[in-house]
Amino acid sequence: MNKTKIAVLVSGGGTNLQALIDSVGSVLTSGELALVLSGNRNAYALERAAKAGIATEIVVKKECADQADFEGRIIAALEKHGIELIVLAGFMNILSADFTNRYPERIINVHPSLIPSFCGKGFYGLHVHEAALAYGVKVTGATVHFVNEIPDGGRIIAQKAVEILPGDTPEILQKRVMEQAEWILLPQAVEKVSAAMMKGETV
Ligand code: GAR
Repeated sequence: MNKTKIAVLVSGGGTNLQALIDSVGSVLTSGELALVLSGNRNAYALERAAKAGIATEIVVKKECADQADFEGRIIAALEKHGIELIVLAGFMNILSADFTNRYPERIINVHPSLIPSFCGKGFYGLHVHEAALAYGVKVTGATVHFVNEIPDGGRIIAQKAVEILPGDTPEILQKRVMEQAEWILLPQAVEKVSAAMMKGETV
């Protein structure tokens, strides 16, 4: 049976992309990392992809006429590479309902909190951890979920809790959430969905 063809959409450092690359053959066996698409020309994630021999494409929002043009270029790249499953791994652009409705339960996102806490518009990257520390919660974590037209609103696939410790800064907390939750959870969830797709099942 053919493996599920996966595109990973990135904008920055790409540590979650790296976790996926490192999981190939152990955790990730039903999916093939066929494309890395970056929303940023200077993303270090592009170097990680090149090193792993994965095809890359770049689509920068501010180089596009409008949202429809931006999404049209992404769709063209996905089609060119025969992509069946899209993973948002630190992709810092909002996708419209026109885009998400095209791929129902075929887009996965990793978010660095326990949704529905600290999510939605404006909650991305370090801001999420700043908000958790400012609120004073004692536990946070990460969530992997399907993407629909509501930011961080799609069905949850997996979650993992992570402790907040005295003296945490947003940077320290971000690192702990990545190490203890995101980098473990994302490959597992991508495998679960890829395997289900190969069998024509839903998760
Ligand atoms: C990750 O912590 C990811 O969960 C977060 O951005 C970081 C990207 O890091 N995503 C969001 O906040 C999405 N709302 P990476 O480029 O090293 O994977």
